[in-house]
Amino acid sequence: MINVAVMGHGTVGSGVVEVLLKNHDSIAKKAGEEINIKYVLDLREFPDSPLHDRFVKDFSIIEKDPAVKVVVECMGGLHPAYDFVKACLLAGKSVATSNKELVAEKGAELLRIAKDKNVNFLFEASVGGGIPIIRPLNQCLAANEVYEIAGILNGTTNFILSKMIHEQMSFDDALALAQKLGYAERDPSADIEGADACRKICILASLAFGKHVYPNQVHTEGITKITLEDVEYASNYGGVVKLLGRVKKLDDGRLSVMVSPAIVERSGQLAGVEDVFNAILVRGDAIGDVVFYGRGAGKLPTASAVVADVIDCAKHVNRRKLLFWEDKAEGYIADYLEVP
Ligand code: HSE
Repeated sequence: MINVAVMGHGTVGSGVVEVLLKNHDSIAKKAGEEINIKYVLDLREFPDSPLHDRFVKDFSIIEKDPAVKVVVECMGGLHPAYDFVKACLLAGKSVATSNKELVAEKGAELLRIAKDKNVNFLFEASVGGGIPIIRPLNQCLAANEVYEIAGILNGTTNFILSKMIHEQMSFDDALALAQKLGYAERDPSADIEGADACRKICILASLAFGKHVYPNQVHTEGITKITLEDVEYASNYGGVVKLLGRVKKLDDGRLSVMVSPAIVERSGQLAGVEDVFNAILVRGDAIGDVVFYGRGAGKLPTASAVVADVIDCAKHVNRRKLLFWEDKAEGYIADYLEVP
């Protein structure tokens, strides 16, 4: 039996608990061990849950319990998530996280600690919600020199733009609906101003190119200035407005990374991606173009990716999965790319 602690019982954390309980038997077969939720850390009022006797408010209970081998972090934000995750890795526990901010800012350091401690730090849910992209990029596409990644990486803004394009809904009404449906971040400015997409393209760029690209190095523009007139203008010219995150390897070896709204041709690979769906186009020298598509936000789609990491951690308790990049951003640039 593998004992797991889930830190954070918000949208994603409660989804993780739900999936682990609902699919308990099949997950046990795939993990090779029963997965037991020993603790749920939540700093707020404890909710009505079948696991109410396992809720704790004190992180040190998890940190100090040697029986806990895998910790799920779904608290979001840098603090206290960073301190908690670092302490868990240093205590020899594997960590699965959905926290984009944590991975984008501290990924290189946390991966290095995980390597030193021979444990795993996995973050499949940090980009694209339920879409498999971290493992495919790191493993299935490992033969390739990747030279470009472009993606619709934020479900909330894609939802808002879809509502504006197809229902002429106002920006504010569409944002309120996205929040109600649980897609938006706690602070939705991270969605609409592009910070969330920026964190995700940083993670993909770091993974694909082996060196940490930090969010503050990336030119980032969100969709707050997009109006219904812009949407109509794009439509009249055969295009749709999308918020894109892009990284491209330049001829001199440097990287160009950016997040901004773009007019995408209606016949393009990313144009038909609607609603809360995300899509990530990866260009590699052997594979050519490959597109990953699916639900990029929401409770159960994101929990799907987190639980896959929990299963992987359980299967590799004393073995490390090979995810790694260096904490060196020299030579990497933030720059504009041509609009596709
Ligand atoms: N707020 C994020 C989004 C959640 O809308 O894509 C998933 O990272």
